Amino acid sequence: MVAKSAKASKGSTKKSKQSSLRILVANGVNLDLLGSREPDVYGTQTLEEMNREIEARWSEVAAVSRMPAVELHFFQTNHEGIFLEALDANWDGIVINPGAWTHTSLALADRIKGLNVPCAEVHLSNIFAREAIRHESLCSSVVVGLVAGFGAEGYVAALFSLVSTQLTSRPQPLPSRR
Ligand code: DQA
Repeated sequence: MVAKSAKASKGSTKKSKQSSLRILVANGVNLDLLGSREPDVYGTQTLEEMNREIEARWSEVAAVSRMPAVELHFFQTNHEGIFLEALDANWDGIVINPGAWTHTSLALADRIKGLNVPCAEVHLSNIFAREAIRHESLCSSVVVGLVAGFGAEGYVAALFSLVSTQLTSRPQPLPSRR
């Protein structure tokens, strides 16, 4: 498992040649303020602490569930263009918390739609239980699924669901004989 918190590594090797799945965990605008920002909403963990927790929890979950090998790459930026460029086709999967861009960025939704890489959306808080302006996510129609309201554990849930439903070949259920 590789953890990169400062910069998303640009995949120089094609994903088909990798033995581990490369998954980007990308946090957007203002998530660098975790720990001091509205602790009643977002908790008291810093982004770095949260990323370490996600990594540790993923290791536990992956071991008991016999998940394939995964490299987690952590990334955060407050610059929308840099965030968009970090989402590229070299990743096997992407987990994003776009922060406020969730509610404003059609560019982000277009990027996810155009990438053809399975993407899961995470929010620390339950955006649907907050102010009306946060109820709409422009990304929600282009991601595979969304987890909101479970804090850091939501990233682990999103990773688990993304890997097990999109990135693991499983036997297909037999068609019904009815
Ligand atoms: C957030 C929810 C957004 O509405 C907000 O702008 C954030 C964080 C969350 O993780 O709960 O910055 O994405």
